[in-house]
Amino acid sequence: MTTPADMSFLATDLDSLATAKGRIALMVHEAGKMDASARRLNRMTKGAVARLLESDGFAAARPGDVTTLAWPAGLEAEALDVVFLPKTAPQEAARKAGAALGAKLGEDGLLVLAGATRRVSDVALGVLLKAYGYDAQKTKKCDPLGPVRIMCKTPEEVDTAALTARAAGIFFTRDLVNEPANVLTTTEFAARLEALRATGLEVEVLEEDQLAELGMGALLAVGQGSDSPSKVVVMQWKGAGDAAPLALIGKGVVFDTGGISLKPAGGMEDMTMDMGGAGTVAGVMKTLALRKAKANVVGLVGLVENMPSGNATRPGDVITSMKGDTVEVINTDAEGRLVLCDVMWYAQERFKPVGMVDLATLTGAIIIGLGHENAGVFSNDDGFCGQFLSAAKAEGEGAWRMPLGQAYDDQLKSRVADMKNVGGRPAGSITAAQYLKRFVKDETPWIHLDIAGVASLKTPSTLAPKGATGWGVLALDRLVADGFETKDG
Ligand code: BES
Ligand code: MN
Ligand code: ZN
Repeated sequence: MTTPADMSFLATDLDSLATAKGRIALMVHEAGKMDASARRLNRMTKGAVARLLESDGFAAARPGDVTTLAWPAGLEAEALDVVFLPKTAPQEAARKAGAALGAKLGEDGLLVLAGATRRVSDVALGVLLKAYGYDAQKTKKCDPLGPVRIMCKTPEEVDTAALTARAAGIFFTRDLVNEPANVLTTTEFAARLEALRATGLEVEVLEEDQLAELGMGALLAVGQGSDSPSKVVVMQWKGAGDAAPLALIGKGVVFDTGGISLKPAGGMEDMTMDMGGAGTVAGVMKTLALRKAKANVVGLVGLVENMPSGNATRPGDVITSMKGDTVEVINTDAEGRLVLCDVMWYAQERFKPVGMVDLATLTGAIIIGLGHENAGVFSNDDGFCGQFLSAAKAEGEGAWRMPLGQAYDDQLKSRVADMKNVGGRPAGSITAAQYLKRFVKDETPWIHLDIAGVASLKTPSTLAPKGATGWGVLALDRLVADGFETKDG
């Protein structure tokens, strides 16, 4: 398990600079202007800081940019990172600045002189999120992360626990998404979720016989070709008494070969991330528990493996969902929706949620439509959808609403069953969402997030290295904080 760096906030103590090991970061709010910390470091480095601040290079710096003085004479630190961050810099620049520092965090730690920066928490979150390395399967491990100490004006005002809770939730998601499928089997996934009991979450694991009893024929049809047993895991966070919960549902296909409708070999290894929806739900639940959110939220994940075998579901098979609707399986590679429809139905029957959000790496088509910048957002409720889009925007997580409509739903008509599981090539992401919508009750406000393009990236992003991003944990945590928490009275 990757744990976030140890982080603390304290009052500025200039006398500690001389002996600080690791890296020192200095925030500069205005080109050429030096505060007390800058003046002290300038004296210690015999004028190097002033020369840097007066240079043409620094004058051209954009908010969040970092210039490094390596092995600075006069300091014990290995580097002095000078960060240009205007006092009123937007959140994005503050997180970016923090991320630049987090990318360089090493064993000897980091001391940040945040000065009068207003967005200390955002700088800190940037440091924490970027200082992540997935080394579970390497024999040579990443160096352990040293402590991050942030000196600022009002250290007592920073909610360190909430910051660490968010980073820990995101790291949990990233670790799950990055793990290979021979390690993160359905059984191992469930075990890692059961370990969340230590945070105060209630965790139940429903096994295949119970799923059969409940009538989850669609979910079970996906997993029946695999030697790994299908499971549904229910995680409850009860931070607000008896009120009906918000439900978060995740697609947890630990590996997607396509099944009998086998995928081509090229790139199939990427399908280890096909449990990204479930990974995100797990990360959000962990964050909510760690920060003791005053909200009731239930997370449900469908854990299956989509494999071809003599026992696998065939194209043309007709299966019966928990809702009772029959589905003609045209393509066994359109499996995510089969998993989700049963978990969504179960969530509504059991919990009568005030709202339901499902997350899934559901379609390649959403990558064609929105690339890797935005997740696809589909909803039956403008108010709820607006709440989510605001939360995503506030956290800098790309999210773009897509349409739904009867004509798309019509593409799912089947000759032999109540519906087909695919709607043909046009609007593939929308017909997938229309399929899910058939399993949403009229009274349930619902959002579907197609995260196929954003859950894992081949290139580093501002706040994450290559690989799993943890997209959605921040947005959903904020959705809960802004719309579903009881306020202190
Ligand atoms: N897991 C895939 C979608 C996916 C593609 C996720 C690329 C991440 C990256 C999903 O199960 C799938 O195979 N979808 C099919 C649907 C089609 C058969 C209607 C697809 O997108 O091709
Ligand atoms: Mn598939
Ligand atoms: Zn899939």
